[in-house]
Amino acid sequence: MDLFEKFKNMGPLGKYNREAFGYFMFPKLEGELGPRMSFMGKDMLVWSINNYLGLGNHPEVRKADAEAAEKWGLAYPMGARMMSGHTKYHEELERELADYEKKEAAYLLNYGYQGMVSIIESLVSRRDVIVYDSEAHACIIDGCRLHFGKRFVYPHNDMVNLDKELERATKITDQTGGGILVITEGVYGMSGDLGNLRDIVALKEKYNFRLLVDDAHGFGTMGKTGAGTSEHLGVMDEVDVYFGTFAKSMAGIGGFVASKNEVIEFLRYNLRSQIFAKSLPMPMVIGALKRLELIRTHPELKNNLWKIVNALQEGLRNNGFNIGKTESPVTPVILEGGIPEATQITYDLRENYGIFCSIVTYPVVPKGVILLRLIPTSNHSIDDVNYTIKAFSEVKHKLDAGEYSKEMIDAQKIM
Ligand SMILES: Cc1ncc(COP(=O)(O)O)c(C=O)c1O
Repeated sequence: MDLFEKFKNMGPLGKYNREAFGYFMFPKLEGELGPRMSFMGKDMLVWSINNYLGLGNHPEVRKADAEAAEKWGLAYPMGARMMSGHTKYHEELERELADYEKKEAAYLLNYGYQGMVSIIESLVSRRDVIVYDSEAHACIIDGCRLHFGKRFVYPHNDMVNLDKELERATKITDQTGGGILVITEGVYGMSGDLGNLRDIVALKEKYNFRLLVDDAHGFGTMGKTGAGTSEHLGVMDEVDVYFGTFAKSMAGIGGFVASKNEVIEFLRYNLRSQIFAKSLPMPMVIGALKRLELIRTHPELKNNLWKIVNALQEGLRNNGFNIGKTESPVTPVILEGGIPEATQITYDLRENYGIFCSIVTYPVVPKGVILLRLIPTSNHSIDDVNYTIKAFSEVKHKLDAGEYSKEMIDAQKIM
């Protein structure tokens, strides 16, 4: 068989390509980044970009990015950090990030995803055991896939089960002479609930393990200073390795890992995604320094984000919506229905209410569940919140009345 033959089966997402491309998947949002953007020529109130603190289009950020691109270009520095891609600006950003995270040191990653895969791969060897949460992000799963030793998964935030898996892992490491790495997220990006960091950390009394936290959605949004979920839950010191991305609150690209000196020094010489890949370009580094400075000196960005989050989540709850267990800005609205209803709701929201949010269906969530995911940002207004709650109430009313199952949307007409 020709290798390419199998591509006729496009996989769980790709199978909807013909009907969904351009509208439900790969939509083109146009215009300035922010709560008002344009989709297929129509103005939209956008709840689907992770621009939590509104930095994506902040004038100082735009200026810093543009000046850095003008001064350094996009090529500088050339080569991997270890060979020829190291600069004092990379070091400065690392010092700033470590200081912000109250860790001894930090190291930059040129993509969050690859960085995380690489962190996991380099922290463990064949003798070690990984124990991770069942709802872990794809980058954690891919990192675990590279591990030659045992790995155990515990049901999402289930501490009784984690305890059991740690007992199992300890029996193995007692024999192999290896160690245990537990991996969780700080904020779970679909449901918005938090990794059970306090309870996980408490298990350190009973078992010997190190804790790695992927705080992609928590960095900048959670905790008194925005340092993340571990700050929010008061366990910054107990998180051994902290990971953050620049792709969300920082509205950039890249990421970092922060930990003790000995860990970062080890990673510097063993993170394959950094040793064998080009260093983060200068505009990203200088731009990240500016973003971090703004996050640290402008608490109103986070305060305003939370004003919107609280209004949106309280409003949805008060109007009878199930928003699950979120404790973060990520706001899931959980409805009942299949893919036909989900597509019609999305269509109705976009075409008749001018609301653009992400929609998640089976296989990402269980069959029969429709999850509309709202990402509030510092730039949204209370009017946006009120308008959205009213629109969602109407949509839910139509869903409950069976209106969306009566009339199927002809996807071809949308395109
Ligand atoms: C939990 C989590 N980890 C890691 C990543 C990857 O980060 P990046 O987009 O910087 O590659 C994401 C981004 O989607 C994420 O949500």
